[in-house]
Amino acid sequence: MKTAIYPGSFDPVTNGHLDIITRASKMFDKLIVVVLINPFKSFAFTIPERCELLRRATAHLPNVEIASYNGLLADYFNTREDVDVIVKGLRATTDFESEFQQAHTNKDLNPKAETVFIPASQNTTFISSSMVKQVAMFGGDVSKYLPECIHEEIKQKLNSEFTAARKAAQKNDQ
Ligand code: PNS
Repeated sequence: MKTAIYPGSFDPVTNGHLDIITRASKMFDKLIVVVLINPFKSFAFTIPERCELLRRATAHLPNVEIASYNGLLADYFNTREDVDVIVKGLRATTDFESEFQQAHTNKDLNPKAETVFIPASQNTTFISSSMVKQVAMFGGDVSKYLPECIHEEIKQKLNSEFTAARKAAQKNDQ
C-alpha cells in the first residue's frame, strides 16, 4: 500500500489544491493532506478551520485523510510509519526554485522524505490562496477559484474580515 502526504498552508483550500488532491488520490492508495505552519505567511483561517474546510472539500474522496502538525514536515514524516512520499503541486516555473529548495531541505533533514511533483492543471495554474484573499478583500467574486461546497462560507468570512480591516485602515488615514 502506497501512502503520500500533501503538505501546505491551505489558507484556504482552493480549486488548485483540490486539483492536486484529486489527481494524487488516484495515484496512491491513501493521501494524507496535512496542514502545516508556513512562518513566512499570515493567515486568515485558524488551523481547525482550514482542516474543516479541507474535510468538506474532499468528503467525496474516500482515500483522503486530513491532518495538521505544528512542526517540521521532515519530523511529521517520521511520526507516520505509513507514509512513503511527499506530493507537491507545481503551478509555474516560479514555484520551482522554492519547491526544489524545500524538497532538498526535507530530504536532508530526513533521508526517507522523498518529494514528487505534480504539475497543476492548465485551468488552475494561476490560482493561489493569496490571490483568492486579495480578490476577496476588494469585494471581487472568488467563487470560481474555490471548491463549490465551501465557497460561500469562505467568501463570507473573508468579506467580513477584510471589510472590517479596510474600514479600520480608512479611519486611521482620515
Ligand atoms: O502552502 P504553502 O504555504 O506553500 O506550504 C508551505 C509549507 C507549509 C509546506 C512549508 O512552509 C512547511 O513545510 N512548513 C512546515 C515547517 C517546515 O518543515 N519547514 C521547512 C521546509 S523547507
